[in-house]
Amino acid sequence: MADMPSAFWSGWIAVLTLVSLAGVAWLVWSVYFGRDRGHEREAGPVWDGNLEEGKQPAPIWWFWLLFGSLIFSLVYLLLFPGLGNFAGLLDWSQGSRLAESHDDYEARFAGVRAEIAEMSLAEIQNDSGLMAVAERIFRRECAACHGPEGRGQASMFPNLHDIDWQWGGDEERIRQSIRGGRNAVMVGWEAVLGVDGIEQVSEYVLSLADGVAANHPGKAIYDRNCAVCHGADGAGNPLLGASRLSDRIWLYGGDPDNIRATLTQGRFGIMPAFDEQRLDDTQLQLILALLVR
Ligand code: HEC
Ligand code: HEC
Repeated sequence: MADMPSAFWSGWIAVLTLVSLAGVAWLVWSVYFGRDRGHEREAGPVWDGNLEEGKQPAPIWWFWLLFGSLIFSLVYLLLFPGLGNFAGLLDWSQGSRLAESHDDYEARFAGVRAEIAEMSLAEIQNDSGLMAVAERIFRRECAACHGPEGRGQASMFPNLHDIDWQWGGDEERIRQSIRGGRNAVMVGWEAVLGVDGIEQVSEYVLSLADGVAANHPGKAIYDRNCAVCHGADGAGNPLLGASRLSDRIWLYGGDPDNIRATLTQGRFGIMPAFDEQRLDDTQLQLILALLVR
């Protein structure tokens, strides 16, 4: 109630509320103590010995009930927000209650949370309770993309439990991947290489993966165009997020059609950044314990 569009509407609501309360008070009072109170018989037939037209106020406990509710309403409106912009004498609000319980929570758990944030990954990994918490955080924040077990999915989101790390697999690099996000950029090659060129270099990439690179006509194309990022032997480059091509782990699929599609369209994988608001230091530390080996 504290944010009324204007003082006019706030005043309007306050006046309307008070006038209605006064009206109800007058009505109740007049029924019990007004001039024409008391039993009043109207001229007319009498049925069943004593059933007749007339009026009689409801029993007196009704009066006290209504009177009590009126007093209660007034006290309530005095203490709590309800009358337009008037915040009430207790200054109570849902917002402040939320803030209080948040402070409560901080006071109770801040110590434990700070301790976890300071623990080494090995210590966390040895505590099955903490690892279970880590898995819950992973399921909530990451599983939608990386799959429930973090094993990747849809040939779009990488497996986080294999040995292949596009952006590097040590603690610091993974921390950067999560905190800062990653934007992988490999533009399409069709304009440069043509369909034939793509065919040849795809074959060469597949032979790299099989470990039999030797003398393929695609090698010249690879050395000229691809080695800058993926390395002469296809080892990849974690600084660019350039995938390792010399193994059989693929993000976008490893059959000839997938490789051709990767080269024709280009690939632009985006890992969103998780700042402190989305994942605080404690949660990040738990997630790292889950991912780093
Ligand atoms: C500017 C650096 C750069 C160059 C040059 C480059 N790539 Fe890439 N490549 C990348 C990056 C970065 C990715 C990861 C894209 C992603 O994750 O979305 C990638 C991904 C790939 C993939 C997909 C790997 C997978 O796991 O699915 C293949 C295949 C590939 N590149 C082959 C090539 C070939 C062949 C060439 C040369 C014609 C080439 N790249 C040139 C940076 C480059
Ligand atoms: C909206 C989808 C999405 C969500 C949510 C997401 N990721 Fe990712 N993540 C990606 C994509 C896509 C990539 C691959 C980027 C690329 O192509 O290089 C990625 C890459 C990564 C990498 C780098 C992998 C490598 O090989 O170097 C790590 C680490 C990672 N994610 C961890 C996480 C964690 C931990 C969470 C949860 C806190 C998370 N991701 C949530 C989409 C997502």
